[in-house]
Amino acid sequence: LFIDASEKSGRPIPQTLFGIFFEEINHAGAGGLWAELVSNRGFEAGGSNIPSNIDPWSIIGNESSIIVSTDRSSCFERNKVALRMEVLCNSEGSNICPSGGVGIYNPGFWGMNIEEGKSYRVVFYVRSTEAIDISVSFTSSDGLQTLASTNIIASASDVSNWTKMEVLLEAKETNHNSRLQLTTSKKGLIWLDQVSAMPLDTYKGHGFRNELFQMLADIKPQFIRFPGGCFVEGEWLRNAFRWKASVGPWEERPGHFGDVWMYWTDDGLGYFEFLQLAEDLGASPIWVFNNGISHNDQVDTSSVLPFVQEALDGIEFARGDSSSTWGALRAAMGHPEPFDLKYVAIGNEDCGKKNYRGNYLKFYDAIKQAYPDIKTISNCDGSSRPLDHPADLYDFHVYTSANNLFSMSNQFDHTSRKGPKAFVSEYAVTGKDAGTGSLLAALAEAGFLIGLEKNSDVVQMASYAPLFVNSNDRRWNPDAIVFNSFQVYGTPSYWVQHFFRESSGATFLNATLQKDSSTSIVASAITWKNSEDGQTYIRIKAVNFGSNSVNLQISVGGLDPNSVKLSGSTKTVLTSANLMDENSFKEPKKVAPIQTLLEEADKEMSVLLLPHSFTSFDLLK
Ligand code: AHR
Repeated sequence: LFIDASEKSGRPIPQTLFGIFFEEINHAGAGGLWAELVSNRGFEAGGSNIPSNIDPWSIIGNESSIIVSTDRSSCFERNKVALRMEVLCNSEGSNICPSGGVGIYNPGFWGMNIEEGKSYRVVFYVRSTEAIDISVSFTSSDGLQTLASTNIIASASDVSNWTKMEVLLEAKETNHNSRLQLTTSKKGLIWLDQVSAMPLDTYKGHGFRNELFQMLADIKPQFIRFPGGCFVEGEWLRNAFRWKASVGPWEERPGHFGDVWMYWTDDGLGYFEFLQLAEDLGASPIWVFNNGISHNDQVDTSSVLPFVQEALDGIEFARGDSSSTWGALRAAMGHPEPFDLKYVAIGNEDCGKKNYRGNYLKFYDAIKQAYPDIKTISNCDGSSRPLDHPADLYDFHVYTSANNLFSMSNQFDHTSRKGPKAFVSEYAVTGKDAGTGSLLAALAEAGFLIGLEKNSDVVQMASYAPLFVNSNDRRWNPDAIVFNSFQVYGTPSYWVQHFFRESSGATFLNATLQKDSSTSIVASAITWKNSEDGQTYIRIKAVNFGSNSVNLQISVGGLDPNSVKLSGSTKTVLTSANLMDENSFKEPKKVAPIQTLLEEADKEMSVLLLPHSFTSFDLLK
C-alpha cells in the first residue's frame, strides 16, 4: 500500500460524512433512549373509544374490591381517555382491602430498572369525589418486594378537580424488573391520567438514558437523521409521525400507534427532543418529514399544500425566533435559541410512488423560497443517472448480503461528480450473513465504508441502520446497539463505526493498493489533527475479507524526515475466532476492537492482516 502523505495529495473529507440514523423502531426511543419508565402513561394506547384497553397496565385487587374502567373525562383536550377506579373495599368495615391495598400497576417496557440510591420522579394527574390516600411505589414484578414508596394524601376539596401530583422516590434496593404501583385502601372513586416515572439522572436532565446516549456520543456522529424511516411514512397516513402532535407539554401529547413497527408511543421523545438530542451530540439534525405519502395511501399533489405548510411550520419551530408562532412554542419548551436545522428529507423511500415527484416539488419550492440555505434530500437515487428534479442530496439505501456489500466498496467510483451529493442514509448487511449482528456483516460494512470514504467527494453522508434494538422487541435484525432495561452492548457493526469516527472533516490521502487477485483487501488512509492531544495522525485502515492472513507492505511517502514517530503509534484490530461470532449481554465484547502499541511503526513497514479482520494503524506524524 503506497500512501502519499504530502500536503498536496490530500482531499478534505466532508465534515458531515459519518453520522447516525435514529428511527423509532424496535422500541429504540419509547422503552429505549427515552428514559420514561411508564408505558401507555395516558391510558390512550387502546384507542380513543371507550371502554379502552389499558395494556400494559394491570389491576391489583378483585371484582369485590375494585372496578377499573376508562372514560373520556381527562382534562387534556388531545387525549381525553382517563382511568376510573371505583374502590369498593376499605381499611375498616365489612369489606376490608387486601394488605397493600388495591389499584393498578405498570410494568413499563419489559420491566423497569430501579437502582438503589437513585431517585425517580413520579408525576400523575388525579381527581376524586373523596379525600385520597394513594401509595406510590416501585416494587418487584410480583409486587412482593418494595423498592421505594410514599403516600399521597389530599382532602376531597384539593382533588375535586384534576390535580397534578409529583413525588420523588429514592430506591432502597435494586431490581431490573420492577413495576410502578398506585394503590389505596380507601373506599371511593378516583380518576387517574398521565402517569409518568422518570429517573432523575438522565443526560443533562434532558430525558435521554445516560448509557445509551454515551454509546452514541462515543462514535462522534456528525449528523442525526430522525425520526425514521418507515415510521415517518406509516402504513397509513393516519398513523404516520406528525411533528405537531409530538410537541408541547408531555401531558398534552396524544401519542400515536406506529403501524409499521406495530407499537404505541406516548411521543415523549418528540420533535423537540430529537432536536435537543442532535444538539447534545454536537450533530447536525436531519429531519425526515412525511410528504403526504404512506405505504398504502397518498395525498394528491393538488391537495398536498397543508402538508407543505406543516413542514414549513416544523422548520419555523426549529429555527424561528421566539416572536414567531412556532418559535415561541420552542422557546416555551425551554429552548429560546433556534436549533441548527440545515437539512430536511422530503419523505422516505417514496421515489417509486405515483405522487412523489409532484409532491416533492411543492415542498422543494416552498422550502427553498422561505429558507434558501436549507438543503433538501430527495428519495430518488441519483448515483447511476441524473435526477429529473432539483435536490441538494439524494438518499441511497442498501440492505444486502455480505459479499454484495463488500463488493459495493466501488459503488460510487463512477458516479457523476456533477449534481447532488449522495446521502447513504441506510445501509447494513442483512439476512443469514448478519444473524443478529455478526463479524462477517461488520467486515463487509467496513469495506463498504472505506469505499464511501474514498468517494467522499460525491458521498456527503452515511449512516448505518437501524441504530437501536430493545432485545424484547426485535422488529428488525441486525441493529447497531442492543439493550434491555439495564444492559447494553454494541454489535460488531457498531464497533466498525469507531474506526471511522475521526474521518469526518479529516483529509483523505492518496493511497494505491497493489494486490494479487487472490486477496480480498480494501484499504485507505486519512490524516487529521486530534484536538485532544494536539497531535497529527495518519490512520491506515484495511479490511481483510479473505480467510488467509496477508502480509501488507505499507510505504508512507511525502513526509519530512522526522515524521512518523515510533513511540505512541497504535494498531487496532476487530476480528474473532469465527466469522459468525456475535456479541451478547453475556459476552458484550466478544467481537470488539483491541488496541495495542505498534512496535514496528515506520514509514516502510510490513504488517500482518489476520484472516477476516479489520485493522487500523494510527501513526503519529
Ligand atoms: O431501517 C429499517 C427500515 O428500512 C427503514 O424504516 C426504512 O427506511 C427501510 O426500509
